[in-house]
Amino acid sequence: MRLTRLTVRGVRNLADGTLELPAAGAVLLGANGQGKTSLLEAMAFPVLFRSFRTAMDAEVVRFGEPGFHIGVAFEDGARARTVAATFRLLGRRKQIEVDGVPTRRLVDAAGAWLAVVFAPEDVQLAAGAATGRRLYLDRTLALADPRYLATLARYRSALAQRNAALRQGRADLAAAFDLPLADAGAAVVSRRLAWVQAAGEQFTTGLVALGEQSGEATLGYHGAVELADPAAWGERLVQAAPRDLARRATTVGPHRDDLDLRLGGRLLRDYGSTGQQRTAAVALKLLELDTIERATGRCPALLLDDVFAELDPERQARLAARLFGGRSAQVFITAPRPDELPRGLALPVWRVSRGQCQPGD
Ligand SMILES: Nc1ncnc2c1ncn2[C@@H]1O[C@H](COP(=O)(O)OP(=O)(O)O)[C@@H](O)[C@H]1O
Ligand SMILES: [Mg+2]
Repeated sequence: MRLTRLTVRGVRNLADGTLELPAAGAVLLGANGQGKTSLLEAMAFPVLFRSFRTAMDAEVVRFGEPGFHIGVAFEDGARARTVAATFRLLGRRKQIEVDGVPTRRLVDAAGAWLAVVFAPEDVQLAAGAATGRRLYLDRTLALADPRYLATLARYRSALAQRNAALRQGRADLAAAFDLPLADAGAAVVSRRLAWVQAAGEQFTTGLVALGEQSGEATLGYHGAVELADPAAWGERLVQAAPRDLARRATTVGPHRDDLDLRLGGRLLRDYGSTGQQRTAAVALKLLELDTIERATGRCPALLLDDVFAELDPERQARLAARLFGGRSAQVFITAPRPDELPRGLALPVWRVSRGQCQPGD
């Protein structure tokens, strides 16, 4: 995957216009607040049509503008393609185009353009709330297999309708959504379980390879694993019925599950040091990258936001070897100063200043 052109209008502090980008990628140098992260955010947006910084499209809109437009032109092997998103604050509408053709369904556009972001906030994957880990899991699986995204959409729709009925105190109406919920929910759980099982060993070895030596790291799935079988849902939903009605929400299902990350048997979230949490987060991001590569046979662009600045030189070298060794990905990497970059990166240098981005050295 190679991004050849990025067009932005109304995005954060970025100057409106089109950038023609180098095939190898670029180092994006600039002081704080100049727009480096915003640039990566724009590049990553058309992967799943959401920002990696916020769940709210409205936050991406430059202050005072009515909306934003982000378009990417890219090469997927020998194919030249485009994907674009236009968001308007009025009505909160998001329009998506793939190869110039408007599409109504996210599933038809998701993952056409592939990029994986590494950012300092990733540490929240190990240190933060379950929501972030579910999002990680869902994004990774959706990009590996569009059918997962379709199933997840069916699950979310059944869940939303069931919860709406529960909010009205209508247990009878809520029960009408039990079957679609069970059907899609079981597929979601079973796909997630299969991934956790396949990825567990790589997570363990990944942490060692990144220099973590204080115990064995494990990746598990936290949730009602029996719900991978659609037949198991009936009983669980009946059991949960009084609680569901009291809380006016569905209290069983994969929307409540979590990834279980441990080091030496202890939860990284509660007991890990910041350094250990950061290493675990990087290992998860590498898993995301490998999962997508393996499933699609394509090599996502790497968008690296200040990630090396926080690692010691030894860990920098290990991560650089994992990211750049044996892979010829296009790489966009931000840093405030050149000395905060890993050694041996032969990339053109671009300067980012007050929302403008241009070649320079
Ligand atoms: N919606 C927005 N509209 C206009 N400016 C914004 C918006 N959101 C953030 N900014 C500003 O954009 C600038 C660039 O931010 P960022 O891309 O994070 O910079 P960098 O990564 O180079 O430190 C910041 O000065 C920030 O205040
Ligand atoms: Mg930044």
